[in-house]
Amino acid sequence: MPLPPGSAVDALLARRVLVVTGKGGVGKTSVSLALGVLAARRGMRTLVCETSGADNVCGRFGLTSGGYAVTQLAPDLYSMSIRPEAAIEEYLLRMLRFRKLYEMVFRNRVMAPFIDAVPGLHDLVQLGKVFDLERERPAGLVGRRRAWDLLVIDAPATGHGISMLTAPRGMMRLTRAGPFHDNARDVAALIEDPARTAIVLVSLPEELPVSETTELYGRLGNFQAQVACVVLNAVEAGRLPPTYPSLRPALAAGANPAGMDALALADALLRRVNAQDHARASLARLGPPVLDLPDVDAPVLGPTQLDRLADALGGEAEATR
Ligand SMILES: Nc1ncnc2c1ncn2[C@@H]1O[C@H](COP(=O)(O)OP(=O)(O)OP(=O)(O)O)[C@@H](O)[C@H]1O
Ligand SMILES: [Mg+2]
Repeated sequence: MPLPPGSAVDALLARRVLVVTGKGGVGKTSVSLALGVLAARRGMRTLVCETSGADNVCGRFGLTSGGYAVTQLAPDLYSMSIRPEAAIEEYLLRMLRFRKLYEMVFRNRVMAPFIDAVPGLHDLVQLGKVFDLERERPAGLVGRRRAWDLLVIDAPATGHGISMLTAPRGMMRLTRAGPFHDNARDVAALIEDPARTAIVLVSLPEELPVSETTELYGRLGNFQAQVACVVLNAVEAGRLPPTYPSLRPALAAGANPAGMDALALADALLRRVNAQDHARASLARLGPPVLDLPDVDAPVLGPTQLDRLADALGGEAEATR
């Protein structure tokens, strides 16, 4: 049986930064938004950050994206798209302090390719932006210490997700000392702090995604300790009576063609539910709690469907809101 979601989710929402990753197409963006919706419902000022230039969130709310600028999606829920190019410009400008110098050095045709060649820089600056957002002071929000209660990072898929998490360490090794080193050290301190940053792995209840999640978990190294939960996304909620397998022969004996069709559907449901149970059991062996999210069966996950996913994450209390 799936774990009751409440406690694991409460622990998640106590963090400052949630990094949501998993294989391509498993539902990272949907889960990031569902977490955002839940946090916002609880009165937390929440920012969902897309990464690596992805910019799909606003469209799901029927809004035009502000890109690198923050867009409000709903009360207490905001999003932005962290584009590496914009983050690099912001980062280097701050390091160099003067726009003129930045333009002289980095807008220069000869220098620009060198910036792209710095290993991990694109990933580091995106986390650098997260670091800045985490510390951002509220402008004009009376009585608040921080601009954001929670940052949900819709991180890139699998391998790229890992290289993003390890980018600060990579830069520290590359530079050894100096302002770039110190900045990378500060970013690493946030991302590697289990009290402030948690990782959410998203998977699907099928064999291949489960084995890819298992492999991803194995590759996380020290970050494994920060995996706060694995979300088993798009789970079929329907159930057959436990007596179905033993009753089936008798049902089939007396069934007409329509009855046989119904039994074929029931068999398919049973296979899917068994596969899901198997997937959940495999994921549970990794260690972190496994949370089910239902298959909401809609072509696009907009506010209504995301509300349902947030209900499921939050447990009964939210569902009966
Ligand atoms: N719980 C769910 N129920 C039904 N459909 C879902 C669910 N979660 C995700 N989907 C659908 O699956 C598809 C992929 O979801 P999503 O965009 O969230 O995945 P992703 O991991 O962010 O993908 P990418 O790797 O391309 O960024 C979308 O069409 C989405 O509507
Ligand atoms: Mg996505």
